[in-house]
Amino acid sequence: MPGIVIVGVQWGDEGKGKATDLLGERTDWVVKFNGGNNAGHTVVIGDEKYALHLLPSGILSPGVNAVIGNGVVIDLEVLFAELGALQARGVDVSRLKVSANAHIITQYHRTLDKVTERFLGKRMIGTTGRGIGPTYADKINRTGIRVQDLFDENILRQKVEGALDQKNHLLVKVFNRRAITVDEVVDDLLSYAERVRPMVCDTGLLLSDALDAGDVVVFEGGQATMLDIDHGTYPFVTSSSATAGGASTGSGVGPNRLDRIVGIVKAYTTRVGSGPFPTELFDEDGDFLRSRGFEFGTTTGRPRRVGWYDAPITRYATRINGITDLVLTKLDILTGLKEIPVCVAYDVDGQRFDEVPVNQTDFHHATPILENFPGWSEDISTARTFEDLPQTAQDYVLALEKMSGTRISVIGVGPARDAVIVRHDLLD
Ligand code: GDP
Ligand code: IMO
Ligand code: MG
Repeated sequence: MPGIVIVGVQWGDEGKGKATDLLGERTDWVVKFNGGNNAGHTVVIGDEKYALHLLPSGILSPGVNAVIGNGVVIDLEVLFAELGALQARGVDVSRLKVSANAHIITQYHRTLDKVTERFLGKRMIGTTGRGIGPTYADKINRTGIRVQDLFDENILRQKVEGALDQKNHLLVKVFNRRAITVDEVVDDLLSYAERVRPMVCDTGLLLSDALDAGDVVVFEGGQATMLDIDHGTYPFVTSSSATAGGASTGSGVGPNRLDRIVGIVKAYTTRVGSGPFPTELFDEDGDFLRSRGFEFGTTTGRPRRVGWYDAPITRYATRINGITDLVLTKLDILTGLKEIPVCVAYDVDGQRFDEVPVNQTDFHHATPILENFPGWSEDISTARTFEDLPQTAQDYVLALEKMSGTRISVIGVGPARDAVIVRHDLLD
């Protein structure tokens, strides 16, 4: 069972980093296939806490080969800052490989991300401001800069010139910003060329060979299903394919090599940035979940919006991704609630919807139809088997499993690496 995909089910921050880390010791390769440094994965190992943005969290496991795939957008300054910080803490990062086809986030992408958001005013998406959207826009527009361009100064200069020809008009005339010179961008990018060169290769070939050899490859998704450019709550989404299909296009490995699709889902829901969120809470239950779950962005520090578990979203994600196993995280955060409401369907202007509505306006109008489950007060953080959980916690998990259409294989009961209950081995 060598090809394993990890995807977020909700709006991100489900604990994907912890899930990758859980597989760590038995993994040979971990590849990030989408997104960039908009992601934020917190991984707790012993007393050490690591926050990763651009690098796949699998890099923390000794002996694992980490890969940044072609579907990723790379901010070179962030890449080397993260590598340096890990090295300083004794993490071996020498095995990192970077796709020659990955696109590069430049200064003008970061600037455009920030000024377009400001321009949108009330309609803003609430992006992370890292230049993600403008970089993917250039990729689709065929005006992007790729990693391999760093090694041909002539081509690099031509491409930057082409991009800035248009963008400077926009920056100066529409957004009232200063023009960016070709030299400053080219010089900045070239300053990383020799450092990145030894890492760059045809990562699709590398990964296919690894799978042929029987190695275990984990495809680590950033963001999540509801933030996916096609299947998320457009336009309040990120600009990449965060669903399982993206694991194939974003790494250069055929879809028939993906054997297991693992969805990571939180026992409640959070969202950062704007957009619809039917189960969102604005009361003290919301404050309880936010402070107990420490729901503040790893990347931007913004308080996350919080709400109850939304079963139609998990069902939707199961269908869109072909999820074979779910990892239910943060069950421990619900401890102490007398009753735990779960969204089982939506009410849209008086009409019941059992599934996520395809129409954006309907989803914006959706209010949750809630079913209450009895809570528990016992500390569950030391539970290591399903039977260790109080009966009401077991019933809650079984109810979510029934509604999701797939099995819940792992349950998270605390932030630490070993704070999990494994019901079905993800590698079996
Ligand atoms: P990611 O973006 O999906 O990798 O998730 P983040 O790292 O942004 O947010 C998840 C947070 O939840 C991290 O701080 C994790 O350490 C923490 N976490 C993961 N699983 C559990 C769990 O089962 N219980 C608790 N209490 N915390 C968890
Ligand atoms: P991880 O991998 C949560 C959100 C932003 C914004 C929207 C678009 O940690 O789960 P972008 O900068 O990508 O153009 O912003 O997507 N967003 C995330 N929210 N977790 C993430 O990553 C996110 N990455 C982007 O808040 O609403
Ligand atoms: Mg995160």
